[in-house]
Amino acid sequence: MLLDTYGRVATDLRVSLTDRCNLRCTYCMPEEGLRWLPKPDLLTDDEIVRMVRIAVTDLGVTEVRFTGGEPLIRPGLVGIVQACAALEPRPRLSVTTNGLGLARTAGALREAGLDRVNVSLDTLRPEVFHALTRRDRHHDVLAGLEAAAAAGLTPVKVNTVLMRGRNDEEAPDLLAWALEHGYELRFIEQMPLDAQHGWQRADMVTAQEILAGLATRFRLTPEGGTERGSAPAERWLVDGGPARVGVIGSVTRPFCRACDRTRLTADGQVRDCLFAREESDLRGALRSGASDAEIADRWKAAMWGKKAGSGLDDPAFLQPARPMSAIGG
Ligand code: GTP
Ligand code: 5AD
Ligand code: SF4
Repeated sequence: MLLDTYGRVATDLRVSLTDRCNLRCTYCMPEEGLRWLPKPDLLTDDEIVRMVRIAVTDLGVTEVRFTGGEPLIRPGLVGIVQACAALEPRPRLSVTTNGLGLARTAGALREAGLDRVNVSLDTLRPEVFHALTRRDRHHDVLAGLEAAAAAGLTPVKVNTVLMRGRNDEEAPDLLAWALEHGYELRFIEQMPLDAQHGWQRADMVTAQEILAGLATRFRLTPEGGTERGSAPAERWLVDGGPARVGVIGSVTRPFCRACDRTRLTADGQVRDCLFAREESDLRGALRSGASDAEIADRWKAAMWGKKAGSGLDDPAFLQPARPMSAIGG
């Protein structure tokens, strides 16, 4: 079990498969990209599957999400999913992707055992998409979403980061569109995890503002009943339900107290938090012949010291050394 000193247990593993990406979202990385991890530092497909196996069979992990960078650009993704789906007990498997290439791979991923996908899309307007991502691929994302739904990778969730003056006015349109297509839309508060270190709290569109924007067109009522628990998204029923919309207020409404996450970076470092300033090197152990039990012990030790929260409200808050694209969102 991956327990920490606050009594939280990590059962949700997020594995970053690559730090590279085929978009250049302005709030994430600069036009020229970043200094990518050297190939030899990346865990191999077999090493990733071994780490997931240890997490699932020895450490109580039940959910595994593959992230990036952009996980679909990892050539071995389908094989990794297939190997993870064969584990006992079988973990729930999902991918968070920008949707490029998903139209091509959704069927194979489903067949390999993937349960569902979350796709990032910040706008319905191709020209705004181009301005935000610096690539002309809006159509590919829409096609990817449709293919994911058709392949049964459901519920298909859509992640939208709202930015003041760029796409925030589109929020009600985005919700209407998501409802029409049966996607579960979640609006995300922007976090200080960009490579450029340009995040400003005052620029951030807050959860409260997001809800106020949506209320101009929809009647939102708290989902109620079930506790939010460890889910980052607070969910609201739209016009009485059953359709829902989520708001991920990681900055103003954090879920740290119930956090159940552990992370593995593409280069084999365990992180106990998205905002952690320290990592534990498990690749070194892996490559120097450590046994499964030794790796499991190191992983436990890495999680034990997890801090109470992200530290975002601390005046001395410092962004982690790695940007979001290299941590895995
Ligand atoms: P579901 O299980 O589908 O709800 O997944 P998810 O929302 O956890 O995953 P996803 O990869 O779609 O992440 C969506 C957003 O949640 C990210 O962009 C982050 O803004 C936020 N998020 C994910 N993990 C964390 C975390 O550990 N801490 C915080 N503060 N935010 C997180
Ligand atoms: N703050 C919040 N969300 C972010 N994402 C990328 N960078 C940030 C940030 N700084 C989002 C992407 C994607 C998800 C994995 O994280 O848009 O939907
Ligand atoms: Fe790529 Fe995601 Fe960063 Fe956009 S936010 S550049 S899709 S890693």
